[in-house]
Amino acid sequence: MLRVGMLTSGGDCQALNAAMRGVVKTLLNMSDEPLEIYGFLDGYQGLIYSRFKMLTGKDFSGILTEGGTMLGTSRTPFKDIEKPDANGLNKVDAMLQNYYKLQLDCLVILGGNGTHKTANLLREKGLNIITLPKTIDNDLWGTDMTFGFQSAVDIATNAIDCIHTTAASHGRVFIVEVMGHKVGWLTLNAGMAGGADIILLPEIPYDINKICKKIEERDKNGSRFTIIAVAEGAISKEDAKLSKKEMKKKMENYPYPSVSYEVAARIQEKTGREVRVTVPGHVQRGGSPCPYDRVFASRLGAEAGKLILDRQFGFMVGYKDREIVRVSLEDVAGKLKYLSPDATIIQEAKMLGISFGD
Ligand code: F6P
Repeated sequence: MLRVGMLTSGGDCQALNAAMRGVVKTLLNMSDEPLEIYGFLDGYQGLIYSRFKMLTGKDFSGILTEGGTMLGTSRTPFKDIEKPDANGLNKVDAMLQNYYKLQLDCLVILGGNGTHKTANLLREKGLNIITLPKTIDNDLWGTDMTFGFQSAVDIATNAIDCIHTTAASHGRVFIVEVMGHKVGWLTLNAGMAGGADIILLPEIPYDINKICKKIEERDKNGSRFTIIAVAEGAISKEDAKLSKKEMKKKMENYPYPSVSYEVAARIQEKTGREVRVTVPGHVQRGGSPCPYDRVFASRLGAEAGKLILDRQFGFMVGYKDREIVRVSLEDVAGKLKYLSPDATIIQEAKMLGISFGD
């Protein structure tokens, strides 16, 4: 008997269901060993509080194209994981106990950065763990790509495409704020795909004067509008110099809902141009996975299934140089994959005339 636990943790994204389906289909197709699947509900919460449902192969049929996660998810911050809960429960011990009580052979964990830190902690405590890299941010170290990313690029690009037509009609400056947390992968890709004129990324602090100069240049060249793709984590050169404490102080009295509104206000003030802000927000994480993500998540799931059958644990299944690879969990945990300002894609974007406000 093979007993496999599964959970999805952190912000959801497209293709979580496709990835889980990939694992289970592989286990069922590649082995005659009887299989019990324990689906823990709402991420680590399900493992801590023993909330799970027993699943069969049938539960994984017809979910390839479904967005969200059939198991539910939640954020369980790593920084609090070793603190007792409100009732004094030791959460890590509870997870270990539930794993052993159910006599699990392994736990498949689908998640992003925070999730991987906890997954690695459970591995260190002796559990058999396999992880799959999910996040629209594409910021997980150890893999060139995460599933959910390409679907989010499609949605954010579509938002920029829609803004393009109205911006052109009105001759306005338009900002589209793209998710991505502290990294710029999503904004860069959607910005380039949507033909943005200016792209602001967390990894390349911006100078507002350079942004205004680019807008004015476009005006002079007869372009009636400017599209700016702004990463939600974008930061100005002045702010990039602030200490953590100074930044915290600034944010206490911050009058804007997000960075895009600050950029908009400063452009308006400096150029007198009419600026509008669009924030697609969680739409970027929603809906059906794009075909790329369906295939990609299925491939990752298949490899995870194979690792389980080979009894190889302690790995994240990732993607490197166009190959599905296994990466040691201890190498992945706690590291973010930033976009390098020197990356060739940034240089190419600059050759195309895109400004990064630097
Ligand atoms: O990590 C995925 C992500 O969508 C980020 O891009 C974003 O900053 C964050 O999650 C939003 O988190 P929440 O869903 O908790 O608001």
